[in-house]
Amino acid sequence: MSTPNFDRLAKPYRWLEYASFGLMLERCRFYFLSACATTRRALILGDGDGRFAQRLLQANPSIEVDAVDASAQMLQALRQRALTVSTAAAQRVHTIHADIRAFPPEQRDNDPGYDLVVSHFFLDCLTSNEIDALADRLRDCLAPNALWLISDFAIPQRGWLRPVAQLVVRSLYFAFDCLTQLRMKKLPDYAGALEQRGFFRVQQKTFLGGLLTTELWRKQPRKP
Ligand SMILES: C[S@@+](CC[C@H](N)C(=O)[O-])C[C@H]1O[C@@H](n2cnc3c(N)ncnc32)[C@H](O)[C@@H]1O
Repeated sequence: MSTPNFDRLAKPYRWLEYASFGLMLERCRFYFLSACATTRRALILGDGDGRFAQRLLQANPSIEVDAVDASAQMLQALRQRALTVSTAAAQRVHTIHADIRAFPPEQRDNDPGYDLVVSHFFLDCLTSNEIDALADRLRDCLAPNALWLISDFAIPQRGWLRPVAQLVVRSLYFAFDCLTQLRMKKLPDYAGALEQRGFFRVQQKTFLGGLLTTELWRKQPRKP
């Protein structure tokens, strides 16, 4: 299990994204932001240069954020972006430099757990089995009814956009393999992993004919 290295993408990441997808990925990331405005404690997975964390801190003036990323440079960019909101906001962000596949989420005494998990364009860095294991580990650290906000690439089931989407995803994986040693070849089945672990999809919005999806999932309380 080798960890991809996104360090050298931290600075140009935003511009590479705008050059390839314009503002579409941003629209996807922020589409359900208002649903996060009243959450209390967030775990953000692989936020990259911190654009979502910045907007979350602006939208929610009391939220506490734990941000996990395997890239020290990405975390540095995230901390700098949080500072642009305010010093007080940046103090509510705790960055954790770790590979998510080996990350033990913190369970605090007398705390119901995270009530928000965020993973934008991150689960596609993991295999389906790795997402199974992640969801298993996270589930017990989440408050009842916690939300999980996910954005990702997707391949439409049918239609002429399907081969186009397949080509786009293959090209992206090839580029990330060259630039970061991300050894992934196909999109994982995160929906299956989450459904099997008692999460259900509350809302979904797709963009670019289904190539991009953003989804709000909720943890179902365990049956007594
Ligand atoms: C494709 S970027 C996505 C960045 C951002 N979330 C976005 O919306 O564009 C993936 C991010 O996840 C991090 N990452 C990839 N694999 C990881 C892993 N196994 N553990 C922790 N972080 C990882 C990378 O360092 C990078 O910051």
